[in-house]
Amino acid sequence: MRFSSTLIAAASLSLLSVNSVHGYGILGHTLTGQVAQLFLTPETARQVKEILSPYYGGLLSKAAPWPDTIKGQAKYRWASIFHYVNTPGDNPPESCKFEYAFSGHDVVNGLFNMTSQLLKYKLAEPITPEDKSTREDALRFFVHFMGDVHQPLHASGKERGGNNAPAKWGRAKTSLHRIWDGQLILKDIKDRFDNNPKAYLDNMVDMTNNVWLPEASNWTYCTPEKNQGDNPWSESTKLITKLCPMEWAREMNQLDCMFVWKDYDSMRDYSGEYFEGVTGEKNNYLVQKLIAMSGVRMAAILNEIYDPPVPHSRNPLREELKDETIVDVPYNLRIVKQG
Ligand SMILES: *[C@@H]1O[C@H](CO)[C@@H](O)[C@H](O)[C@H]1NC(C)=O
Ligand SMILES: *[C@@H]1O[C@H](CO)[C@@H](O)[C@H](O)[C@H]1NC(C)=O
Repeated sequence: MRFSSTLIAAASLSLLSVNSVHGYGILGHTLTGQVAQLFLTPETARQVKEILSPYYGGLLSKAAPWPDTIKGQAKYRWASIFHYVNTPGDNPPESCKFEYAFSGHDVVNGLFNMTSQLLKYKLAEPITPEDKSTREDALRFFVHFMGDVHQPLHASGKERGGNNAPAKWGRAKTSLHRIWDGQLILKDIKDRFDNNPKAYLDNMVDMTNNVWLPEASNWTYCTPEKNQGDNPWSESTKLITKLCPMEWAREMNQLDCMFVWKDYDSMRDYSGEYFEGVTGEKNNYLVQKLIAMSGVRMAAILNEIYDPPVPHSRNPLREELKDETIVDVPYNLRIVKQG
């Protein structure tokens, strides 16, 4: 498998400065985008490239960090609350309670909203420059929110998602949130992969196809629950069967009790035993796995939008249903060779 050098450069560069204000830092978001890119079908990759400005060269990894860079802009004020989700009564590690109700103000809503927009523009190509730029924004936000929803501290409001939970990293002061945004990933790359993000990425893809495969083949499984209850997006996203942000957030929220907030102590050095626990074999390389999970799910949804598998009945998203025999393969876990 070959990787473009820009892609690697972007990841190496971000090793120098891990931005940890919100969601995964630049490095985490870059990695989720890189994983996703490898699981896109060629047709999806082609359309993604067309949607994104030429600056991105069609790379999800390059577009993924963008929503953290425009937070100060009035035009995008609506988006800031879409990066996370808090549910009432949740108090890890004692109790992880995720009883979701649609409020229109969180990452679950954000993901449904962006997917719904991408679908809308897929079914009716935008003509005006304004619509085209709204579509590009939707894609960039979608990719970013897919990363954020897989950062466990984005699925619990306790201490502002751990931003207000001081902690130590070696002798340095940090917060639980920053640790999960970037410090764990960074140290894992440094310790196990000789500071080489490409090796970390290769390993992640390898693990997805081997060690994690039994679970990984289920990462894109979604229960019909997503369309039940009060989901205002169920109609506009019904063609997408793999979009389950509520379930994902619930899974992440559970991790807050099992690992993230467990035995929290502001004086503890999190770069020691805690780091080993969440990045090592003992817990199936959890930190790395969450990135892979985010990327695989992201790709599966983009493939469903831009290159839907051939259905038994007509799928309105599939424009050219030709006579050729097309085999319905479980394409999600197929690695598509890049460039
Ligand atoms: C959906 O996203 C748009 C931006 O594309 C935003 O203006 C709108 O408020 C969002 N709608 C909801 C219900 O969150
Ligand atoms: C896949 O998900 C389904 C439904 O949640 C579950 O019943 C099944 O055990 C899962 N399989 C694996 C291998 O995790």
